[in-house]
Amino acid sequence: MKYLVTGGAGFIGANFVHYVIKQRSDAHVTVLDKLTYAGNEKSLAGLPEDRFTFVEGDICDEKLVGDLIKDVDIVVNFAADTHNDNSLIDPWPFIENNILGTYHLLQAVRKHDKRLHHISTDEVFGDLELDDPNRFTETTSYNPSSPYSASKASSDHLVRAWIRSFGIKATISNCANNYGPYQHVEKFIPRQITNILSDVKPKLYGAGQNIRDWIHVDDHNAAVLTIIEKGNLGETYIIGADNDHINNKTVIEMICELMDKPRDWYEHVNDRPGHDMRYAMDSSKLRRELGWMPQYTDQAGMRDGLKETIDWYRENEAWWKPEKAETEAKYQKTGQ
Ligand code: NAD
Ligand code: DAU
Repeated sequence: MKYLVTGGAGFIGANFVHYVIKQRSDAHVTVLDKLTYAGNEKSLAGLPEDRFTFVEGDICDEKLVGDLIKDVDIVVNFAADTHNDNSLIDPWPFIENNILGTYHLLQAVRKHDKRLHHISTDEVFGDLELDDPNRFTETTSYNPSSPYSASKASSDHLVRAWIRSFGIKATISNCANNYGPYQHVEKFIPRQITNILSDVKPKLYGAGQNIRDWIHVDDHNAAVLTIIEKGNLGETYIIGADNDHINNKTVIEMICELMDKPRDWYEHVNDRPGHDMRYAMDSSKLRRELGWMPQYTDQAGMRDGLKETIDWYRENEAWWKPEKAETEAKYQKTGQ
């Protein structure tokens, strides 16, 4: 099986490449990545040369994408601009990379008749109130809140339209918040871990009551591989690990405790404008129809996943340190 993994030098994409090379001995992976500030070629170090190729380039580059697509069996699209806070400062890269980028990939898979799996997010559904017992399902209406989530919603709509109108062979997955190795230090969990490793207090937006349905990146990627191998063409699958009851304050306290700091060793900072309150995912379709199950579930599973993630950042300072000062300088400007 030959894979073209777009955005494969980013957090989830890089973990996917390591995962698929390890799990499938017949897999060959080509990564196409623009290496934005969020892409890091070092995340792909150590992969076997005969089974892995890296190409620096843009999914909006029609010729390059066409040339690469001809030789593969499937495109797995992780490429996107992904940070909500950045989309509030400058939405344009989100429109370009997420909407136009997906358009170009769709035209290429259509022309060359190749399979596509498009990676999306729970944020396309908007948010839930804290006391709302519902979870997002594959039929929940789209209601995005930020420029980032609106751009992801747009890209999903394009994929659905190309499936219906042009009959392309595609699947979509919408996943909850990921954590694990190789995540950029701008994101919530690695930001707090690397703050503590730098002897700086973690930063909690507002009161920290917001809930994210945290999932370990390996559970996400196991689900993606399951959908690629067993999923029904044209379908959307929700991916989640039932962690929709752990708020940000609890996560930050867990990190402090796991890193031998007092549980309240953190600061409240400015909240994010338009901050989504709660995400919750119902992944029963994926479990029932394709037999996928997450490994890191509930508060105990999350603690294990966090412990491993903390160890990874402790042992890989050379990977994250070059990004840290610039990231924090950006946050300082918004009081976050
Ligand atoms: P990331 O920001 O860590 O990485 C994104 C990668 O895409 C980077 O390597 C970047 O260089 C590359 N890229 C951006 N624009 C490109 C372009 N035009 N051409 C080629 N490469 C380009 O992102 P991530 O957190 O790994 O997210 C990957 C995907 O998963 C995204 O589509 C995101 O919306 C989705 N997702 C993320 C999460 C999460 O919690 N991080 C959860 C659900 C879904
Ligand atoms: O839900 C899936 C989404 O998860 C993905 O689509 C996005 O690409 C990914 O970035 C993530 O979006 P969030 O906005 O939920 O993630 P972030 O890591 O930015 O923040 C998680 C929560 O933590 C959110 O409620 C804001 C809060 N937060 C964030 C930072 C960076 C803090 O309290 N302090 C912080 O320093």
